[in-house]
Amino acid sequence: MTANELRKKYIDFFVSKNHVEIVGKSLIPENDPTVLFTTAGMHPLVPYLLGQEHPSGSRLTDYQKCIRTGDIDAVGDPSHLTFFEMLGNWSLGDYFKEEAIKMSFEFLTSPKWLGFPLDRLSVTVFAGDEVAPRDEESAAVWTSLGLPRERIHFLPKEDNWWGPAGETGPCGPDTEMFIDTGKEPCSDKCAPGACSCGKYFEVWNDVFMQYNMQKDGTYLPLERKCVDTGMGIERTIAMIQGKKSVYETEVFTPIIAKIQEISGKNYGDDEVLDKSIRIIADHTRTSVFILGDERGVSPSNVGQGYILRRLLRRAIRHGRILGIEGAFLNQLADIVLEMYKEPYPIILSNKDFIFAEIAKEEEKFRSTLQKGLHEFEKKLEGLMRNPKKIIPGRIAFNLYDTYGFPLEITEELAAENGMTVDKEGFDEAFKKHQEASKKGSDKVFKGGLADNSEMTTALHTATHLLHKALRMVLGEHVQQKGSNITAERLRFDFAHPDKMSAEQLAEVEAIVNQQIARELDVVEEVMTLDEATAAGALAFFGEKYESKVKVYSVGDFSKEVCGGPHVANTRDMGKFKIQKEQSSSAGVRRIKAVLVK
Ligand code: SER
Repeated sequence: MTANELRKKYIDFFVSKNHVEIVGKSLIPENDPTVLFTTAGMHPLVPYLLGQEHPSGSRLTDYQKCIRTGDIDAVGDPSHLTFFEMLGNWSLGDYFKEEAIKMSFEFLTSPKWLGFPLDRLSVTVFAGDEVAPRDEESAAVWTSLGLPRERIHFLPKEDNWWGPAGETGPCGPDTEMFIDTGKEPCSDKCAPGACSCGKYFEVWNDVFMQYNMQKDGTYLPLERKCVDTGMGIERTIAMIQGKKSVYETEVFTPIIAKIQEISGKNYGDDEVLDKSIRIIADHTRTSVFILGDERGVSPSNVGQGYILRRLLRRAIRHGRILGIEGAFLNQLADIVLEMYKEPYPIILSNKDFIFAEIAKEEEKFRSTLQKGLHEFEKKLEGLMRNPKKIIPGRIAFNLYDTYGFPLEITEELAAENGMTVDKEGFDEAFKKHQEASKKGSDKVFKGGLADNSEMTTALHTATHLLHKALRMVLGEHVQQKGSNITAERLRFDFAHPDKMSAEQLAEVEAIVNQQIARELDVVEEVMTLDEATAAGALAFFGEKYESKVKVYSVGDFSKEVCGGPHVANTRDMGKFKIQKEQSSSAGVRRIKAVLVK
């Protein structure tokens, strides 16, 4: 079974169990400042897990592109990936543990579906702590299905609890499903979840969301209990196909074959080179998905753009390790595009952009990489004599600033020579140089969940008012190109060719404030996309929509297709103030604005 077949089978199975297929979302979360990328299938569904009604009902299924960059440095081993696809099914206050586990079991073991023999399956469940009890309920369901008790492992919170990935949000105990690869146990402690030797491969996770974690660390019960499950496509096909690693499956072999062809090196001959080959294959695939996303970004020094830059530059450096001198990434990108054009047509429509951006970044970095490596080696000689084996921050910063080496590349080079980098020293040098670019630091890579605080919600409603006001003042060509909201400010990107004048900005600001002062009710309706468009609702973004969508109207002033949430009335929003208008990219302007109470 291939990845394409698995994707289809999963959806067919859950549709046969009365789930509605919904459309996976962009890799770049809307209105969630706590995370750079969509990290799991449940991420776009957080508002619904927290209680909002979903327009498609209470049983949903989809496939979702995900990126986890938290362990970017682990990529290169046989199982870690920065980009992966997650299959998911959700119950929003519908079924809970018993039905969820029964469906997972049927899909995994029935010959009609994946047909894994029962003796290859083992599971983990939550062992219990002071917040939540030991999950005997899930264990009993597994037992009733014929799974022997010794293959049900009780593990603590670090292993069998999901969420919140950020500071707040839905969370609860989970049960994880593992397939035995047949390898010999690595020790007498070798067990699912407790050991990472590769004998047991986790393929699926059923999360039972029953709490909403608060900022102060306490848990409130969720009004509506939900189920969130996630099955990793790449890992699961590796197990179905009897492969030891995701890199041996058909989603990687054509990319690896191309790398072999370009480099003249053979995968499987040398452990160090194999690692470079895997890094290049993984990072190129991820870069294509970031560039080709509904909200594609370009390489830059902040946020998602910086991750993209790190991925591309790390791939280029590992190409150099394989002896590749010229530009090569687009030959690999082309294979990724071909492979994914059906499930993700959006990447094909962004083909020219993807190729152009990769070519530009490769050109930029290749021209300084050699000089930077030379500089590093020169410095290394002296530093190696230093017993501390630490590369000072200012040297790492110089490599970053002059030669375009992301810190992580310098760290990797240091590690290859048995050294470490003084990160604090780097940060200091960085701060001194550019106070504003702090977003590249690790803390934003960790992940998080949607922030539904009051201010964020009010800023979201303000974004709709701003959008409409801009169209009134500048014209109907204004279209939303992106939006990012934190608890402090909104940022709105829109299509418009020229810098806005002070008068235009004042006019937009005045219109938004007039509307806020009208104390308009915000009304939410569910309808089909056609009905929404016919009703004059704005729906943008090259976004894919479900068959039913939510439309938010702010009085008679604005109407937009949107997932929410919004304030109920504009009454207490405060005063809208534009802080900055600037260029975002060619033909796109960016406004930053706040609400002052
Ligand atoms: N959110 C869970 C996970 O990412 C299940 O989808 O594993």
